Amino acid sequence: MKATRRLKRFSAVLLSLATLTSCGAPPNRIDVSTYPPDMQRRYALFEQRCTRCHEMERPINVNVSTGGWPAYVRRMSKHPAAGISIAEQREISAFLEFHAGKRRPVGGEQ
Ligand code: HEC
Repeated sequence: MKATRRLKRFSAVLLSLATLTSCGAPPNRIDVSTYPPDMQRRYALFEQRCTRCHEMERPINVNVSTGGWPAYVRRMSKHPAAGISIAEQREISAFLEFHAGKRRPVGGEQ
């Protein structure tokens, strides 16, 4: 699948970056300690809802830019038994959009 191949390539880039910064493994969480409280709350919801079927590593390392998340979250929520309500989709998208806006081009993250 094309998207998967793209994801793998992107993960490889991230992995080498992680190695450079002596971390070793692809990121599996987001450091939200500097994010506003409402975003930290949304992050908790994202963590809870989006790790039921796969590791958080997947949404974190996929290359979706600002504006693309609502459709993506909607697609994920359509999986049978995803159990993510419309209101929750909105919250999770808001967080991922915020985070995408914070993320500088690969390598530029502080
Ligand atoms: C009910 C199970 C389920 C839930 C809940 C779920 N996912 Fe997924 N996710 C999948 C499956 C299955 C795949 C692989 C096939 C696909 O892409 O649809 C996947 C793949 C992905 C990928 C890999 C990219 C790709 O296109 O291959 C990302 C990113 C992702 N999910 C993000 C999310 C986010 C964000 C949420 C929370 C809103 C979420 N997922 C919740 C089942 C789920």
